[in-house]
Amino acid sequence: MIMERTFSIIKPDGVKRNLIGKILSKMESADLKIVSTKMIHMSRREAEQFYSVHSARPFFGELCDYMTSGPVVVSVLEGKNAVVAYRELMGATDPAKAAKGTIRAEFGLSIGENTVHGSDSLENAAIEVAYFFSGTELVNAAK
Ligand code: PPS
Repeated sequence: MIMERTFSIIKPDGVKRNLIGKILSKMESADLKIVSTKMIHMSRREAEQFYSVHSARPFFGELCDYMTSGPVVVSVLEGKNAVVAYRELMGATDPAKAAKGTIRAEFGLSIGENTVHGSDSLENAAIEVAYFFSGTELVNAAK
């Protein structure tokens, strides 16, 4: 069994529409343990750095505007194959193409306002967790 940690964001549209509890509950139902979680309001600088891999893409400005438009909930999830398991639970980036039963199919509004973010690899998960959480904020869920 490969235990992994991944990083999640409940985006501004999810927080605004009071979906935090429903989404955290879906994570837990999928056997992902929430080992840390907090609400933050990203600064422009934080959003630009977090999404820097997309800086050349035409939607970069819009993405950073959106992610700084309101508070978000950042979480660290732990579980078996957590990176892939959470990507599957989220569904495709475009909610219109997301499989039935996924978070984005149920709650996503558009390709930008798609309610959740999840790391796309184990390597990026470690970088993204470290970007928003200090070591002392992460509990050992196995204990
Ligand atoms: S992915 O998950 O990296 O394969 O998806 P990708 O299509 O490359 O999109 C990367 C992130 O950019 C967001 N996005 C957009 N935001 C605003 N407007 C438009 N048109 C748009 N297209 C994509 C998308 O929601 C992804 O955000 P994250 O937070 O990484 O899920």
